[in-house]
Amino acid sequence: MSDLKQQVENVRSSFGQAVASVMATDALQELRVRYLGKKGELTTLLKSLGKLPPKERPQAGEALNALRDQLEREIEQKKQELTRAEDTAVEVGDRLDVTLPSRGRAVGAFHPVAQTMHEIVSIMQGLGYSVALGPEIEEEHYNFECLNMPSWHPARDMQDTFYFPDEKENAPEGKGQRMLEERMLKGRMLLRTHTSPVQVRSMLQYGAPLRIVCPGKVYRRDNDPTHSPMFNQLEGLLVEEDVSFSVLKGSLRELMNGFFERELKSRFRASYFPFTEPSMELDIECVECSGKNPNCRVCKGTGWLEVCGMGMVHPFVIRSGGVDPERYNGFAFGMGLDRMAMLKYGINDLRLLFDGNVSYFLSGRDV
Ligand code: PHE
Repeated sequence: MSDLKQQVENVRSSFGQAVASVMATDALQELRVRYLGKKGELTTLLKSLGKLPPKERPQAGEALNALRDQLEREIEQKKQELTRAEDTAVEVGDRLDVTLPSRGRAVGAFHPVAQTMHEIVSIMQGLGYSVALGPEIEEEHYNFECLNMPSWHPARDMQDTFYFPDEKENAPEGKGQRMLEERMLKGRMLLRTHTSPVQVRSMLQYGAPLRIVCPGKVYRRDNDPTHSPMFNQLEGLLVEEDVSFSVLKGSLRELMNGFFERELKSRFRASYFPFTEPSMELDIECVECSGKNPNCRVCKGTGWLEVCGMGMVHPFVIRSGGVDPERYNGFAFGMGLDRMAMLKYGINDLRLLFDGNVSYFLSGRDV
């Protein structure tokens, strides 16, 4: 191999190593100067061409030009790689170290009740329902009267209510007093005890036909290990012409099987709610033991779990919603989302749902 050929090969291999170890664009610029600058290694070789015997010049020239093209190509390629990496790299002071590993992602998760709510809402959306929301601070009128529960109705005691204080006595004379009296005529304000007031509110707003679900917080004066004063419900309402009870049964079966991701036995038990007639409660097969364990802590050995109240909407309620009960009928159901979450995710203590210890839900059962 001639002297020059040897030198070309040396430059090629030393450049190859150098370019592979370059980690930043400014180092790449230095490399370019070292090889292709005025006094660069390759430039010096090109300059030495003139000293060769004329016979050898064309071939040597060709080899050197080919090398120059190669170096330029490789530098350009590396430059693109580096700028792409630097764009996404972690910044360290005013320098970028593209060799640093990426920062870990913060781990987060939806609360199991929020997950449950999303899952049930999306199943119901698949059945043609839209989401409607209502206020948590509600009028007595929507929470009770419109739902066929006048003040003397014994069922009001079933839902021990948080009322806002009656400020009438303390109100100042004059305008304030009058405003309060007007409000008193509409009834007291309270924290809604169920999501059912949204039935009437959405009929008034959208009319019929209508299919809605309403997830949300509700409040009752309960506070013990199995009842929280604030919990979550999901209401469903369908108002159409000629709706039969079997549509309600079918829809709820679809919902339960979809939510628990398997075929579950279910049964409908006669029950009572003032705003539905007839009224039923839905029981599903125990998701823990399927009725096989007489000592099951989830179903208490009964094999069944109560999951949902429901019924055909009472004509009184349809009328309260401004819809003609002679033409339209429908069904409604209401279920506790906290309970559904506990059943699906095997959470055995309600209080865990209000606990800030996220690790319980992320890493399994050891709290
Ligand atoms: N609102 C009832 C409850 O809170 C549940 C329900 C809703 C029952 C709709 C029938 C129809 O217990």
